[in-house]
Amino acid sequence: MDTLIVYASKHGCTEKCAELLSKELIGKVDIINLKKAMYTDISKYDKVIIGGSIYIGKIQKEVTEFCSKNLDKLKKKRIGLFICAMQGADIINTELNSNFNSELIKIADAKECFGGEFIFERMNFLEKFIVKKVSKVTSSKSNILEGNIHKLAQAMNAI
Ligand SMILES: Cc1cc2nc3c(=O)[nH]c(=O)nc-3n(C[C@H](O)[C@H](O)[C@H](O)COP(=O)(O)O)c2cc1C
Repeated sequence: MDTLIVYASKHGCTEKCAELLSKELIGKVDIINLKKAMYTDISKYDKVIIGGSIYIGKIQKEVTEFCSKNLDKLKKKRIGLFICAMQGADIINTELNSNFNSELIKIADAKECFGGEFIFERMNFLEKFIVKKVSKVTSSKSNILEGNIHKLAQAMNAI
């Protein structure tokens, strides 16, 4: 069964996680960056995994648009959903459930939060200000939850 991973990433963490995930999946896997290719023909895939990262509570608009434009087709696929985000477990689970279309949330075979990264060298002035103020973090930090990437891969491989 062929799998498509679509994602949007601002500073590269979601891209890195999508690549790590692809290496754990069985069968043919294509990866598409929604910021580069908005139109994607999903008809040939059996499984579609959709991921994005959270900025001030919201996932990238490219992810939301992809889900709404393809909703009818996606409802006929096996679905995996993930986000990259740096809040604590309770908040990121809420962020995951509130940032994807509720119909996709209901039918998803697997949903995971992959953790995230703060990479100060890639942030603009305003982003650094927000992160320092809200998260009290002042230097780059990585908290990618490889166990959760593995869990999502296992769930999708079991289909
Ligand atoms: C300006 C800014 C705002 C952020 N807001 C949130 C947030 O509201 N909730 C959260 O869980 N993480 C937040 N994050 C953390 C990002 O989701 C995290 O850095 C993620 O790994 C980014 O992934 P990307 O590099 O693929 O875009 C924020 C990060 C930045 C720089």
